[in-house]
Amino acid sequence: MKVDVLLGLQWGDEGKGKLVDALTRDYDVIARFQGGPNAGHTLEFNNQKHVLHTIPSGIFHPDKLNLIGNGLVIDPVVFKKEVDRLTGFGMDIRKNLFISKKSHLILPTHRLLDAASEASKGAGKIGSTLKGIGPAYTDKTGREGLRVGDILEKSFLAKYHCLRDLHLRKISQFNYPFDLQPLEDEWLASIEFLRSFQFVNGEYLINEWLKAGHRILAEGAQGSMLDIDFGSYPFVTSSNTTCAGACTGLGVAPGRIGNVIGIIKAYSTRVGSGPFPTELLDETGERLRTSGHEYGSTTGRPRRCGWLDMVALRYTVMLDGVTSLIMTKADVLSGFDTLRVATAYKINGKTTREIPFDTEAPVEPVYTDLPGWKEDISGICEKESLPENLKGYIRFVENHLGIPVTIVSVGPDRNATIQMA
Ligand code: GDP
Ligand code: IMO
Ligand code: MG
Repeated sequence: MKVDVLLGLQWGDEGKGKLVDALTRDYDVIARFQGGPNAGHTLEFNNQKHVLHTIPSGIFHPDKLNLIGNGLVIDPVVFKKEVDRLTGFGMDIRKNLFISKKSHLILPTHRLLDAASEASKGAGKIGSTLKGIGPAYTDKTGREGLRVGDILEKSFLAKYHCLRDLHLRKISQFNYPFDLQPLEDEWLASIEFLRSFQFVNGEYLINEWLKAGHRILAEGAQGSMLDIDFGSYPFVTSSNTTCAGACTGLGVAPGRIGNVIGIIKAYSTRVGSGPFPTELLDETGERLRTSGHEYGSTTGRPRRCGWLDMVALRYTVMLDGVTSLIMTKADVLSGFDTLRVATAYKINGKTTREIPFDTEAPVEPVYTDLPGWKEDISGICEKESLPENLKGYIRFVENHLGIPVTIVSVGPDRNATIQMA
């Protein structure tokens, strides 16, 4: 068996949570491989909305298994709140959730470091989610981090104090006010809570599952344009959000990767700072934000909105080895006379089809205009009923990327999902 990977091809919030939940019926295991509480994955069914941060989006199917891989950074406080919410819905997830002992812990002082560092950058800030992601991954690669498996060791508290004190020395350089005690109390209580979950050697478990013939879907977080290596550095997150991250974040060999399902929103959004060539700073952008309810699932921040960017998509399709596409939020584009799609960039008078190295370069998108459609498509269930111009818009994307769009999503609900092929 192979591991299929589902990931966002833009700047995050493409609708991964909804689609993973909708596709879970075809899999036995859903596994997260990177990121942490910076992610906000929204699922909707039975008129109920759920937002997951750390827990894989297969969790609402009680007969399926879920794995938090070694590539994640976990904040026990956020994790406890997520579990408490699910418990409130009568769910007991301890039986079907496994946590890799090698995943890393986010400490309260990681969150403080994130906030202090962002505050010190002023206008040049990354616009991080302030969840401590950057500092936690910095400690991981700096070989200072604490891992979930460390909780089981007698030396855990001593290790915690040691790392905390190192952080406090760093924070003191920022002149950033804080009160650690309540944060630490809450964190230590949440560590006790975390103990009641199943800690595993995730890399062995997932390979055993593969051997046993389990169908596994790896769920990406963020989007490929936020990848630490290939995104618009430094305005990126701190993990490999691209397909390769599924190998290192779970412990599966590259040859074990099967289908790579790339999710794209029918237009573009970005939250936080950084280049966004097709951004619309006018009423069209505002219209997309309003009709698409484009406000962060984790932070509530308004998302920046713009047209679809094929330069970015060609790049991420190449990096990820995408084998099929899912287009979400097609319903949000209803009512536009004309839809614009960027197919190249003009930089200093020169046309390029590649993402430039220099993220500060003044980029002017080269657009192709396509006709829009008027119909409200949110109630449509089969592909035959979709407006011709939407089919044309989808064909344009398919032809440009050379990959089929197999699913089109026309609403937030799990069932508003149209099979195209
Ligand atoms: P994720 O981070 O990729 O899981 O995406 P988010 O949950 O952060 O953001 C996607 C938002 O769009 C959520 O509010 C979803 O409920 C919503 N959504 C997903 N698919 C569709 C769709 O096809 N149409 C509409 N209108 N909303 C959608
Ligand atoms: P999901 O999984 C959208 C963005 C932040 C910021 C940058 C760095 O819901 O798609 P970080 O807190 O990771 O250090 O922030 O990355 N970012 C996201 N944007 N969706 C996300 O996750 C994101 N996770 C991080 O806004 O620009
Ligand atoms: Mg999100």
